[in-house]
Amino acid sequence: MCLGLSAPSPPSTVLLSFALLLSFLLAGGPVSAWRPWPQNGQMNVTDYAFGDSKKYEGSSEFVKLRYHMGPVLTTKITVHTIWYGKWDRSQKKIIREFINSISATNSPHPSVAGWWRTVQLYTDQTGANISKTVRLGEEKNDRLYSHGKSLTRLSIQSVIKSAITARTRPLPINPRSGLYLLLTAEDVYVQDFCTSVCGFHYFTFPSLVGYTLPYAWVGNSAKLCPGQCAYPFAVPAYIPNLKPFKSPNGDVGVDGMISVIGHEMAELTTNPLANAWYAGQDPSFPVEIADLCEGIYGTGGGGSYTGQVLDARDGATYNMNGIRRRFLVQWLWSHVLNYCTGPNALDH
Ligand SMILES: *[C@@H]1O[C@H](CO)[C@@H](O)[C@H](O)[C@H]1NC(C)=O
Ligand SMILES: *[C@@H]1O[C@H](CO)[C@@H](O)[C@H](O)[C@H]1NC(C)=O
Repeated sequence: MCLGLSAPSPPSTVLLSFALLLSFLLAGGPVSAWRPWPQNGQMNVTDYAFGDSKKYEGSSEFVKLRYHMGPVLTTKITVHTIWYGKWDRSQKKIIREFINSISATNSPHPSVAGWWRTVQLYTDQTGANISKTVRLGEEKNDRLYSHGKSLTRLSIQSVIKSAITARTRPLPINPRSGLYLLLTAEDVYVQDFCTSVCGFHYFTFPSLVGYTLPYAWVGNSAKLCPGQCAYPFAVPAYIPNLKPFKSPNGDVGVDGMISVIGHEMAELTTNPLANAWYAGQDPSFPVEIADLCEGIYGTGGGGSYTGQVLDARDGATYNMNGIRRRFLVQWLWSHVLNYCTGPNALDH
């Protein structure tokens, strides 16, 4: 499946366009990833159009998630963040604390660490599991928009190259257990952002960057398309009578990014080089462990229904606890259970 891009398509794309969803379902292609509503190949287009809940939490019948023998991230994962454009300290703090929460052992149930346990179920050929240790590594600020305010899929690789070859404090080169996370500020447009993606992951090309480094990009959609990429803290105008939820950290754009960052980190670690864990026939358009659970945040989730989530005292919506904070993060596919699950699941 090709999205009509001239540049190579990243394997995991968090997608959202309703028009694309329609054409895609009607074309009968492989199951794929769309935001903000979950999708599986069997779901009826009309169910989406009218936002019916089908109580869908994933169906084992049709999902054939397979391991394709490639590497996964089994050793202590280090996240190297590139802050592209203007970021507030408070925004950085929310994102750093989410990443630090993945390996935090003392957050109350349901926790971010509990959410990561589903990722840890995945193994490589030798039976080694994905690492439970995820830590923040070096960071790079690209405050002056080194490659402009409109990035393409290829210029993203140039941004990463600049960060690892910078004269001062370059990011370390860590192809085995590094995860390069490019976060773009709200005034940056990235190719296909808002019209079809909220984030994606892929790996850098040695011919461009000098190394094969797995990376993920996630954009702050607050200005450009919160209704698409910060759902359910903002809702698209074309769905009537849908009310946004209050976001747990008081920043709609960044709270919306958290779930996309979680989505991409789960997929990058289980399919870093696009040859490990995915469903579907086409490795250039794979369906990965978070794609299968798009839009599902709790028991009963599906359609435009988030599933059963939690209400904080201040009215904010969340489904997991981290260090000092709460987050709303989508569920992930468990190949052991054969359905989508998360730490706030009511049935197990
Ligand atoms: C899809 O919806 C149409 C109209 O409601 C219905 O006739 C059809 O059987 C549905 N298909 C599936 C697979 O549910
Ligand atoms: C490692 O993966 C196997 C297979 O999914 C699973 O049974 C086991 O519980 C996992 N170990 C950890 C520590 O998650």
